[in-house]
Amino acid sequence: GASPGLMASSAPSSSAAEMDPNTANLRQPATTGDAWYGVAHGCTRKLGMKICGKFQPTSYQSVGSLNVPKPKAPLSMLLLLSAIKSCRLLMFTYEIAPVFVLMEQLTLKKMREIIGWPNGDGDGLFSPGGAISNMYSVMVARYKYFPEVKTKGMSAAPRLVLFTSEHSHYSIKKAGAVLGFGKENVILLKTDERGRVIPADLEAKVTDAKQKGYVPLFVNATAGTTVYGAFDPINDIADICEKYNLWLHVDGAWGGGLLMSRKHRHKLSGIERANSVTWNPHKMMGVPLQCSAILVREKGILQGCNSMCAGYLFQPDKQYDVNYDTGDKAIQCGRHVDIFKFWLMWKAKGTIGFEQHIDRCLEISEYLYNKIKNREGYEMVFEGQPQHSNVCFWYIPPSLRGMPDGDERREKLHRVAPKIKAMMMECGTTMVGYQPQGDKVNFFRMVVSNHAVTKSDIDFLIDEIERLGHDL
Ligand SMILES: Cc1ncc(COP(=O)(O)O)c(C=O)c1O
Repeated sequence: GASPGLMASSAPSSSAAEMDPNTANLRQPATTGDAWYGVAHGCTRKLGMKICGKFQPTSYQSVGSLNVPKPKAPLSMLLLLSAIKSCRLLMFTYEIAPVFVLMEQLTLKKMREIIGWPNGDGDGLFSPGGAISNMYSVMVARYKYFPEVKTKGMSAAPRLVLFTSEHSHYSIKKAGAVLGFGKENVILLKTDERGRVIPADLEAKVTDAKQKGYVPLFVNATAGTTVYGAFDPINDIADICEKYNLWLHVDGAWGGGLLMSRKHRHKLSGIERANSVTWNPHKMMGVPLQCSAILVREKGILQGCNSMCAGYLFQPDKQYDVNYDTGDKAIQCGRHVDIFKFWLMWKAKGTIGFEQHIDRCLEISEYLYNKIKNREGYEMVFEGQPQHSNVCFWYIPPSLRGMPDGDERREKLHRVAPKIKAMMMECGTTMVGYQPQGDKVNFFRMVVSNHAVTKSDIDFLIDEIERLGHDL
């Protein structure tokens, strides 16, 4: 039968053999002194019980340690109205989406605490995806060092260069192109055989750029590369950034979710030294698209970088604290509400539930790795256990098994994965991604981000690859 979503679908598995670990997951209530819990608990409790409350006079209330303006209507009513409107809601000002603004602020603060920034202080925003979050990081880095670019344009800056690895996501290069740095000024760093940046190459390229008269500005370290799932050594990279006074961004779009796992978060060690972080709950944490955060260590810099102070929206003389009008930090005007589903999911699963989700996905991918690493007809793309849930491998059909390495074998092998995938799609049984990388011909890249995937799904995938690929 068909294998349920091996990729990022949240459909439950039909296999009864293994229990969905998420059913036993509901979070223990936190203490009422926890600011996060205070608002979170209040919203859901009141939503159920007090849908029609009376309007109350405006005043300030204390939610944990935060003084926030109290909405004029009960939270329940605002939440309900906001939920109903959320498909078309705009998040530019507090008055138009008060509950979502507060949810966003508290959630971003929680994420910053998890990163390890003291008291969760800093800044942030939910953006329309990791590519855009990465672009924000380049914008704020430029604003930090060359704020006059905002007014005068790139002619106010010297020739600036950005550094990122050859395995990093293409969105860094795209940000360089879109923001006027130019693709040529995005310098690609060498990686080791497992796709991790070689710090010595970064230092060599920084000094080389300086010698040429360019100004190194920004370094991207990837936490969980797209194809190999590699984690760049953040601490080593941070040392170099400190030495040369460079902005350090960590692209944790794919790997940021591992911060939720006590077992796996060490792979991002040093992330607290970053100036900015991209973290996509819509990838590894299973939140429906779109849900991506750009988190910045320095408070106020997003506002400084992007604000245009449009008089019809962001009047400074409103009756509430206009710091809650967060919309001017964004490059958009109207902003989709991405926080509500994430907040609800976090409320339902709890931090522990997300941890179990992550641990389970990595356990399943480890099962795949162990199953094929010594199996006849398989070759791993890189040695050793993958750091993330990405398992990269070639299936070698019997016709190629005895063939010596060379152009003919490479050309034939290059065609195997696309053919198998095409047959999978024609049969409608399952799908798995493939790609070339550097000098490596097409290989399968299996990623697990759905905790409902079972070992029997993995067995099915392998059976299917062998059934369809045997006679190629
Ligand atoms: C490492 C990394 N960064 C950024 C992105 C872009 O994220 P999004 O698709 O949310 O724009 C991806 C997407 O695959 C990614 O793997």
